[in-house]
Amino acid sequence: MISGRRPNLGESLALRWAYHNEATTMATMKAVRFHSYGGPDVLIYEDAPKPEPTAGDVLVKVHATSVNPIDWKVRAGDLKSFRDYPLPFILGWDVSGVVESVGSGVNGFKPGDEVYGRPDLARSGAYAEYVVVKESEIARKPARLDHIHSAAIPLVGLTAWQALFDAAGLTAGQKVLVHAAAGGVGHMAIQFAKIKGLYVAGTASGGNQEYLKQLGCDLPINYETTRFEDVVHDYDAVVESMGGDVRTRSWKVLKKGGILVALIGPPPSEEDAKAHGVRASIIWGQVKSDQLAEIARLADAGRVKPEIAAVFPLRDAAKAHQMSETEHVRGKIVLQVI
Ligand SMILES: NC(=O)c1ccc[n+]([C@@H]2O[C@H](COP(=O)([O-])OP(=O)(O)OC[C@H]3O[C@@H](n4cnc5c(N)ncnc54)[C@H](OP(=O)(O)O)[C@@H]3O)[C@@H](O)[C@H]2O)c1
Repeated sequence: MISGRRPNLGESLALRWAYHNEATTMATMKAVRFHSYGGPDVLIYEDAPKPEPTAGDVLVKVHATSVNPIDWKVRAGDLKSFRDYPLPFILGWDVSGVVESVGSGVNGFKPGDEVYGRPDLARSGAYAEYVVVKESEIARKPARLDHIHSAAIPLVGLTAWQALFDAAGLTAGQKVLVHAAAGGVGHMAIQFAKIKGLYVAGTASGGNQEYLKQLGCDLPINYETTRFEDVVHDYDAVVESMGGDVRTRSWKVLKKGGILVALIGPPPSEEDAKAHGVRASIIWGQVKSDQLAEIARLADAGRVKPEIAAVFPLRDAAKAHQMSETEHVRGKIVLQVI
């Protein structure tokens, strides 16, 4: 205790250090977190510690993030056996925002840069006012798009790109069937496929047939009236995000040596693939900043446009999850942060 006398220099410095430390650790931001697994109502808009950039980090002021089905699967605890995130937890695999500050060793970005990307949730999710990312997890956001549209792209865009071109290795003139073609991944996949000169078939309900045509889909298939395996034959690849019966029926549409790329577990059966003389793979989309940059270039050229089904303020994340859980969203749901 130093009451009753002036602190000496050492004590004064110690006090200032303690005050500084407290101020630092007390820095908070608004975020949506969940403290226990459950339904949409476990999502709480509240104060949370503001992340601090360390060496190699970029602190991004989040303008918008988006909702992906994995968000509500994690929130419900469905993926706990796969990855158990520490609670309370901040979701948000997409970000579009502005660089607030950078840690030492960051050369590619500076405060004020508009960026978009896919944060690593093991460190920091984007249902928040701030998120920290590595340089390798972001790229310049498309200048032509606002933050709402940019935030709709990263996770689904990277997944669609990697399914078509990394996993399936498709090239111009080849044929691909994209399931759930009006959804987040699907509507990106259709656009990328057309840009690269592929012939593309896509499945959706009757109400989305006209939309698939607008996207450039060569063969829209109404799953309510048509069995896709009756109209699709000898294709080079299937992008399969439904599982179950849709996966079982998808083997038949591939030509010998073709490939089924699954986006959801369980992994496709190697036995089934062998029996049909085709290949199978399952992917978990990876963040690749060169692909984000390429997609941004395509968006700036007006060749890629994310479809926005709804925009909710961040505090209404629960409502956004309820909408996503219908599994009939066209394009993307975005959460606006500022
Ligand atoms: N592995 C990965 O890295 C990865 C990445 C992203 C997503 N995923 C997974 O892939 C799946 C799709 O993701 P997403 O973001 O595209 O989901 P999404 O946007 O929620 O998909 C919604 C779409 O699914 C369509 N749909 C529903 N039932 C259908 C059916 N029986 N046949 C064809 N289409 C149907 C709907 O079209 P209608 O309204 O016309 O029915 C709707 O447009 C999810 O399970 C997600 O978790 C995996």
